[in-house]
Amino acid sequence: METQRQLNIGLFGFGVVGEGLYRVLEQTPSLQANIVKVCIKDPTKKRNAPAELFTTDRNILLNDPEINVIVEVINESEPAFEIVSTALKNGKAVVSASKKMIAEHLPEILEMQQKYNQPFLCESAACASIPVIRNLEEYYDNDLLHSIRAIVNGSTNFILTKMFEDKLDFKQALMLAQQLGFAEADPVLDVEGWDALNKWTFLLTHAYGIVEKPENIVFNGIQNIKLSDAVVAKEKNHEIKLVAQAKKLQNGKVAAFVLPQFVTHDDPLAFVKNEFNGVVIESGFADKQFFYGKGAGSFPTASAVLSDISALRYQYRYEYKKLYYHQPPQLTNEFYVRTYISFDDWKHVPRDKFEWIEEWHAGERKYLVGVLHFKHLQADAWWKENNVSLILAPDAIIEDVEIRKLKKKSLELAGIVD
Ligand code: HSE
Repeated sequence: METQRQLNIGLFGFGVVGEGLYRVLEQTPSLQANIVKVCIKDPTKKRNAPAELFTTDRNILLNDPEINVIVEVINESEPAFEIVSTALKNGKAVVSASKKMIAEHLPEILEMQQKYNQPFLCESAACASIPVIRNLEEYYDNDLLHSIRAIVNGSTNFILTKMFEDKLDFKQALMLAQQLGFAEADPVLDVEGWDALNKWTFLLTHAYGIVEKPENIVFNGIQNIKLSDAVVAKEKNHEIKLVAQAKKLQNGKVAAFVLPQFVTHDDPLAFVKNEFNGVVIESGFADKQFFYGKGAGSFPTASAVLSDISALRYQYRYEYKKLYYHQPPQLTNEFYVRTYISFDDWKHVPRDKFEWIEEWHAGERKYLVGVLHFKHLQADAWWKENNVSLILAPDAIIEDVEIRKLKKKSLELAGIVD
């Protein structure tokens, strides 16, 4: 039987997550993992750890033969990629929390893992404390995974909760998220949906074996959501959440996107408040499963890094079974979505693009509920511009095979045909 490896760690970054990890490791001696050196950018900053631990020379870590694991929890995407590439090339296992870097360089990271035969683990990069990647990797067979819907960004969920439940304004809520260490250094990444998109990019790989560039996935954040949208949500007995989702359609292809959505009160995602994340997986036979936990913050993120470090003692690595042992399904935009859209002026909403409109409301802030072909969201940007706010209806996806029947029913209801 193979014995557990002693892990000698070179740590890059000593911010919210790096320091959290340092503290957590101090309290976990049983792990047989010790931090040999920490590489930081700013040597003048006061750190709460012995000075001899720190260096600004990354090569000291990357070239040290004693260090067998590089843990990388820095903010900048390109330096993170260089660190990861050199570490893998130098025969070191890597644990990374850099979601932006992973999303932007996924094909290269996949290739390097094979070429240099080293593990690259990144559980902390998505949903922090929820072990979603290892679950998707190990538990769900491709054919059995019908859909996955998730709240993957803690800051936006925190802001939505604070705005709509505690009546803070947007700026106050964002400031609080920053103070608590949930938000990205550039909070636009959270608010405009980039962070959720990045996480969704590689979660799609672990879920379905899909390797897609982030720019090909339709997404938005919460920047256009108005208080009046929350009033409508309340009237309909819904909550507003930023939901990343993927669904296997009847044609075997996958619909995937990250968009704000109305969720009903019996949807487990409605239960996810503040910086928590949640993942609802629907699979054949098992029906629905719900994973819930803290998705941001120092210790929740450090706990996922710790779990990856612990897994390395047993030579764990992702096999990417759905990518390498199966024919992965294709992403598609051949489906329809039921949307709620609020706006100031009709001229910003191309009514002719809708298959049908089920509701419309006048007033200072107007809104409609209507069905759009998804290709319009992929091709156009009107739904993100000019103060237009698009929120998906619950159960938004309508498949090709259902559209005729539903359209007929809707027109009958409106008294247009009989
Ligand atoms: N800014 C991220 C979030 C941090 O709010 O979810 C965790 O990835």
